[in-house]
Amino acid sequence: MASKQDANTQIPSPFMDLPALITKFQSHRLGVRDLVALSGAHTIGFAACFLFRNRIYNETNCDPDFATSRQASCPHIGGDNNIAPLEYQNTNSFR
Ligand code: HEM
Repeated sequence: MASKQDANTQIPSPFMDLPALITKFQSHRLGVRDLVALSGAHTIGFAACFLFRNRIYNETNCDPDFATSRQASCPHIGGDNNIAPLEYQNTNSFR
C-alpha cells in the first residue's frame, strides 16, 4: 500500500551523500552494486535547482566544469524550480 510516511522516510533523499545512500540502500538489503546500477537511470531526465544547488556551489567532489555549467541556470538565490538536465547534454536518450 502506498504510504506518504514511507515515501518520506524510506526513499533516499536527494540531499544525501554517498555514505548515507549506501546505508539507506543496505537497510533495504540492496548493495553498492544496486546503488550504482539504479543511479544509472539518471542518464536521462531533469532535476530542479533547489535539489542540486548545494552540490554545484559547496561540494568539492562535483566536476567543476559541470558545476559551472549548471550555475548558469541555478543561481545562489532564487530560481528554485529551474530545471536542468541530469547530464551535460539533454539527449533524452539512455546511454
Ligand atoms: C538513490 C535513489 C534515488 C535518488 C536519491 C533519486 C533522486 C532523484 C532526484 C532528486 C531527481 C530530480 C527530481 C526533480 O528535480 O523533480 C530524480 C529524477 C529522476 N530519477 Fe531518480 N533517484 C533515485 C533513484 C532512481 C531510480 C531507481 C530510478 C529509475 C530506475 C530513477 C529515475 C529517475 C528519472 C528518470 C528522473 C528524471 C525525472 C524527470 O526528468 O522528470 N531514480 N531522481
